[in-house]
Amino acid sequence: METERLILRWMRPDDEDALFAVLGDPISMKYYPAAFTREDVRSWIERWRKSYAENGYGLYAMALKATGKVIGDCGHARQEVDGATEIEIGYHVLRELQGQGYATEAARACAEYGFERLAAEKVISLIRPENLPSRRVAEKVGMKVEKEILRKDLVHLVYSILRSA
Ligand SMILES: CC(C)(COP(=O)(O)OP(=O)(O)OC[C@H]1O[C@@H](n2cnc3c(N)ncnc32)[C@H](O)[C@@H]1OP(=O)(O)O)[C@@H](O)C(=O)NCCC(=O)NCCS
Repeated sequence: METERLILRWMRPDDEDALFAVLGDPISMKYYPAAFTREDVRSWIERWRKSYAENGYGLYAMALKATGKVIGDCGHARQEVDGATEIEIGYHVLRELQGQGYATEAARACAEYGFERLAAEKVISLIRPENLPSRRVAEKVGMKVEKEILRKDLVHLVYSILRSA
């Protein structure tokens, strides 16, 4: 996928260092139970590579078009919510580059791709209520809070947007 400033492409094992800078940052990842270890990042890349093979989609590496530098990830994750299979859009951006609209640009492209290429009727984002930057991204993509659920004992808001919206 290509946007004005970004390329979203399949993750590769050699993205480990760049993604560790994003997902291993304890300040940025404060709404997660813990920042990722290097081993977590390796499993993360493997998980999505398996998902590309099995589902044709997953979370993708987010790279700057201008330089090719990987500055985060964004993409599609299969999630079970109240017994239904949904397509979630997830995103993480390098702390130094947050606040410049990258997550929103990537998430918009992923929503469009979800509707047009994955034939999704709806896409969602699962977000902790206190994660205001993430909620703002979902809102800028046009999502609205549908309901609240418990996930791993933590309250999450289910943001969603319908294809017809
Ligand atoms: C969530 C995240 C991906 C956003 O990335 P980003 O590239 O900075 O996002 P954008 O620049 O597109 O938009 C961020 C919005 O949040 C707003 N924001 C930032 N901090 C905020 C705060 N403390 N309170 C309210 N809004 C805030 C920004 O002002 C911006 O909105 P605006 O365009 O209306 O000004 C990034 O913060 C991140 O990687 N967080 C850690 C990982 C994470 O929590 N991922 C989401 C899991 S659900």
